[in-house]
Amino acid sequence: EKIIGIMGAIPEEINGVVSLLSNKKEHKLGKRTYYTGEINNQKVVVVFSRIGKVAAATTVSTLILEFKITELIFTGVAGAIHSSLKIGDIVLGESLIQHDMNAHPLFPAYEIPLLNKAYFNSDNERIDLATSTILEMLEQQNLYDVITEEDLKKFNIHSPQLHVGLIGSGDLFFSTNSQKEKLQEKLPELLCVEMEGAAVAQVCYEFGIPYIIIRTISDEADDKSTVDFNSFIEKISNVYSIEIIKNIIK
Ligand code: ADE
Repeated sequence: EKIIGIMGAIPEEINGVVSLLSNKKEHKLGKRTYYTGEINNQKVVVVFSRIGKVAAATTVSTLILEFKITELIFTGVAGAIHSSLKIGDIVLGESLIQHDMNAHPLFPAYEIPLLNKAYFNSDNERIDLATSTILEMLEQQNLYDVITEEDLKKFNIHSPQLHVGLIGSGDLFFSTNSQKEKLQEKLPELLCVEMEGAAVAQVCYEFGIPYIIIRTISDEADDKSTVDFNSFIEKISNVYSIEIIKNIIK
């Protein structure tokens, strides 16, 4: 039986999805609240993990072992690293890397020791499905119905674009231009940074669970990121999560 885990890091990424549930039940376990129920008659388990790789990894393990999910969707925000990304754009993680993993000289930079792996790839079929769903959603301009004109202006969101590629995760919030520039030099193909995706990807890989990581750009991971991040999660991130999840679970 198909059971989809839907995960975010913070309430502002996931409360909107919880509000979509029918037959909602609450389960408390390991200082987290898991909501079981259905969206469009599909069984789902929805939870926010809290921020960071450890919080995310334990939450995914619980979803797999206790709630028996068979696949996982992560929805949340990220800071733009590649110059082509703008606030309000959506990123699908074709591949995920832990940018703060470095056991050199024992192992190559970024490689997870003894797993012989630095890059975790999302399931191709689901990437294709999510790509066409999100492109259609952006074309139909659904977001313009649910975000106020004032907020669109405030966040300078004009015509949000979809990007598919590499996402970097680490236990680090990017809040200065120099932090961003250092990472751009090390991983020039990196689209954006967040703090959970590659941990989720590693656990799903180890258990053979297909996953996709979907991120909306909340800030540009630079000197302005703290202010941008806080106002984006307050006003916009739940709206994106709701639209993305509603359209994907059809
Ligand atoms: N998630 C959203 N914005 C971020 C940033 N600037 N750094 C790390 N994770 C983020």
